[in-house]
Amino acid sequence: MRPRTCSICTAAEPRDGHAVGARRAQSRLEVAAETNGTAMANIESALALQTNDLDAFWLPFTPNRAFKRAPRLIAAARGMYYFTPDGRAVMDGLAGLWCSNAGHNRDTIVAAIQQQAAELDYAAAFHFAHAKSFALASRIAALAPGDLNRVFFCNSGSEAVDTALKIALAYHNIRGEGGRTRLIGRERGYHGVGFGGISVGGIVNNRKFFGTLLTGVDHLPATYNREQQAFTKGEPQWGGHLAYELERIVALHGASTIAAVIVEPMAGSTGVLPPPQGYLQRLRAICDRHGILLIFDEVITGFGRLGHAFAAERYGVTPDLLCFAKGVNSGSVPMGGVIARESVYEAFMHGPEHVIELFHGYTYSAHPLACAAGLAALDLYRDEGLFDRAKRIEPLFAEAAMKLKGLPGVLDVRTVGIAAGIDLAPRPGAAGERGYEAMDRAFHDEDLVIRIAGDTLAIAPPLIVSEAEIGEIFEKVASVIRAVA
Ligand SMILES: Cc1ncc(COP(=O)(O)O)c(C=O)c1O
Repeated sequence: MRPRTCSICTAAEPRDGHAVGARRAQSRLEVAAETNGTAMANIESALALQTNDLDAFWLPFTPNRAFKRAPRLIAAARGMYYFTPDGRAVMDGLAGLWCSNAGHNRDTIVAAIQQQAAELDYAAAFHFAHAKSFALASRIAALAPGDLNRVFFCNSGSEAVDTALKIALAYHNIRGEGGRTRLIGRERGYHGVGFGGISVGGIVNNRKFFGTLLTGVDHLPATYNREQQAFTKGEPQWGGHLAYELERIVALHGASTIAAVIVEPMAGSTGVLPPPQGYLQRLRAICDRHGILLIFDEVITGFGRLGHAFAAERYGVTPDLLCFAKGVNSGSVPMGGVIARESVYEAFMHGPEHVIELFHGYTYSAHPLACAAGLAALDLYRDEGLFDRAKRIEPLFAEAAMKLKGLPGVLDVRTVGIAAGIDLAPRPGAAGERGYEAMDRAFHDEDLVIRIAGDTLAIAPPLIVSEAEIGEIFEKVASVIRAVA
């Protein structure tokens, strides 16, 4: 074997940009010193694995050329930390991608996945089922409010959204209201990347390259207004009236043409936009008045992010369909799903019993590994009281985030639950550049993972984050903001 001289990959020569971080390559594995021997061995063996070639992999939602020039590589994880191939411990300020709510590589989740893989790797998802799918569905239904009792499994948030939209359309159809075909989303909404999700979603770059999308889709206005809401902790007072825009859309098209409204209770991907006070309650009332189904996309807010199992509980609003993914098994195995109200499910349960009631599903719906991981994650959430913990530390988290106010270029800081959005002023003629540099510097210079949406930074650490770590995260963010000013 030829000697490896690049610190990041196996190239004989140091590759462009791969030296970044290696300059400060002193091993900081002692951060994981409290972990047991097996875990340490796992981390060390993962660090020994090196990447040969960065060319073939086309990275999702990533500027590929910039990444491959100066990659941000992750080799292992434990609790609040990632470990880079050169042994740096990097704090996870984003719970993976809003998903590792219990922290990374938790022993019981790892063990559940290992045991399941040895016991049953896969069971046909159509016409057959395995026990853990029922067990997990029951546990999820028990966490959901009201009569949200029936759980349909898929493998991602995008699939959850498309599933919910299809259930809504089919629901009206089988009840003799097939004219209800319109779907209403919201500007600045993110509902994944399926054609349904990008059609109801409200992010221009996710839409404009991909043709005509679904027809018959309308959008509510975004609820964010900086002049009225800047530097708000929690739900802003201004903006509840924007729910009445739904009445305007109903008046335009006629209620009998509208199947469903879909919103994120808190819009995460476009920069942590909490719902204005009273907004979701008004949407619910308007939907009820017009026989329109209300869908909450809780792919980010589900499983504790806002201090409750679901945001529906925080706001006292029960949707007809609720999309989940990410946190269901703490991000450990791909999984998503839709929870339907009893009445929605029952509407389908008619006709000859040998006939399929809903012509929809995925090969990997309720995959055994995902279900086993889900059961272990729900145990952890319960045993460690992580949803309550999120609620308890929310004020401290908000306080720490608000310390960023007044730093150069900070236009707004918003918080809700254990999530914060920080708007930075865009550089003239280069929207998104400052944000991108901030994310890159956070990783390379501050040993911190954060998320960006243009020039907005998002922070949403695992719910196990300690009070000291919250302080540390926002100090690192402050340094980054100063560095990119
Ligand atoms: C609210 C919401 N819906 C849907 C999705 C899509 O999830 P996935 O990337 O698992 O398809 C996301 C992802 O961030 C999301 O935040």
